[in-house]
Amino acid sequence: MTDYVPLLPQTPRLDAETALLFLASLLRDSSLNTLQELVFQQAWERRTYQQIAHEFKYNDDYIRDVGHRLWRQLSKALGEKITKKNVRAVVQRRWQQRQALGQVSMEHRYPLCNFCQDWHQLGETSRVYGRTRELAQLRQWILGDSSKSGPERDRRQLINILGLAGSGKTTLAIALVKALHHDFEHVVWCSLEHAPPLPDLLRELLGRTSSPPGLPPEGADTELLIRQLLNTMEQHRCLIVLDGFETVLRPGKIPSRRQDNYRLGYGGYGDLLAHIARFSHRSCCLLTSRESPLTATQMTALSTRVLSLRGLEQDQAQPLMQSMGSLSGSTEAWQQLIHYYGGNPLWLKLVAVTIQQMFGGNLSQFWHQDIRLFGDGWDLLDQQCRRLTPLDLEVLVWLALAGEPLEIKDLTACLCPQHRQRRVLEALSRLWNHALIERQQVHQPKGVTTLGFTLQPVLKDYINQWWVSG
Ligand SMILES: Nc1ncnc2c1ncn2[C@@H]1O[C@H](COP(=O)(O)OP(=O)(O)OP(=O)(O)O)[C@@H](O)[C@H]1O
Ligand SMILES: [Mg+2]
Repeated sequence: MTDYVPLLPQTPRLDAETALLFLASLLRDSSLNTLQELVFQQAWERRTYQQIAHEFKYNDDYIRDVGHRLWRQLSKALGEKITKKNVRAVVQRRWQQRQALGQVSMEHRYPLCNFCQDWHQLGETSRVYGRTRELAQLRQWILGDSSKSGPERDRRQLINILGLAGSGKTTLAIALVKALHHDFEHVVWCSLEHAPPLPDLLRELLGRTSSPPGLPPEGADTELLIRQLLNTMEQHRCLIVLDGFETVLRPGKIPSRRQDNYRLGYGGYGDLLAHIARFSHRSCCLLTSRESPLTATQMTALSTRVLSLRGLEQDQAQPLMQSMGSLSGSTEAWQQLIHYYGGNPLWLKLVAVTIQQMFGGNLSQFWHQDIRLFGDGWDLLDQQCRRLTPLDLEVLVWLALAGEPLEIKDLTACLCPQHRQRRVLEALSRLWNHALIERQQVHQPKGVTTLGFTLQPVLKDYINQWWVSG
């Protein structure tokens, strides 16, 4: 007699990506951050902390600490002890139990929000100071040369407004949309604040741009949805704004063709941008982001343009601050203050309110008390710098310590000998992509000028304080 072997239903093997989605549906309110997701995914592939730290250029102890906290958080959420060793087994078991009960639902991973809207739903914005040059430049890239027709018109298909947090990217994009909407059949504004999965975004976009709205069948793969969107972008003239694109990017990476600069599960966004840039159509996709998602090839392509958004000029920044309250100061005090904050509109607004409330509107009094970095402004810089690698931070520290702009060779000489010039160049490239460094001419003897890198004063102070506090 042969042994009786019960026939169990075949359960598909769980990969790291699906496991993360499953976990997110269990965690609901306490979702994982990008670094936790990365550690989870790598631990799932049985990598050691040391390997993870080495590959993604973090400190060993830091990654170990992230791991320990992650397992503690998961243990609490799932009500049983989870460690790096047993995480695969536990999550796989939970997944199978849910599948058996027919309860696997991942729809709560993302807050239910309407992330796409038509331009007229954007609402009123307060007065926009300056930005006439930037608006004219964007207008020309988007509309091309109106005296020509067809390909001769030279319209750009993919445009990225890149800048620091609070530099006014969203404000500029809204002003642009309001000025250009007549030139398009469809204008759709999508906020990526909650990092919607690409298929959801594509479906919403298709729903708003196809006429009559025609959606591919449920479950159609992402590639098909992208192709359908491109067809629509060819048939109808559409302006699609993807605001806050950095939410789908992975920290500490340089955009590359391998698309490993995208968060786990978000690589499709890279395909979308590649298609929009490469295939010819009549529409334009405008991105705003704190970090550039464009690869070197895309940045130099004819169909693509990047606008690096700088701060407001003195004569625009001063009225912006005055619109926040009644402020007074000498010309020199105004200049010092606006230069210090790099003309960043958000910083200027925050500081204007503080000067009004705490210093009776007196600029000099605020300036001389020597605390210029605080509250939301500090948090924003903190958020951006947390996304950097240790080498990037080391470069920032050296730039902050140097009184003048540093050339690459000087920087390489300051850093540990193990960082070869190539690595330093890559770090500078990442910092440039994050809009955290600026280029400045360095005057050498005999009238020779070269290019060096430097930081805005506010960032210098932040890095110095962060470094001093360890
Ligand atoms: N040109 C401007 N004139 C007046 N106010 C501005 C201008 N640019 C930005 N602001 C104000 O500064 C603040 C930050 O602007 P905005 O949200 O556009 O920045 P952002 O670059 O999109 O920031 P984030 O990276 O956080 O998305 C807002 O309160 C906005 O109203
Ligand atoms: Mg914004």
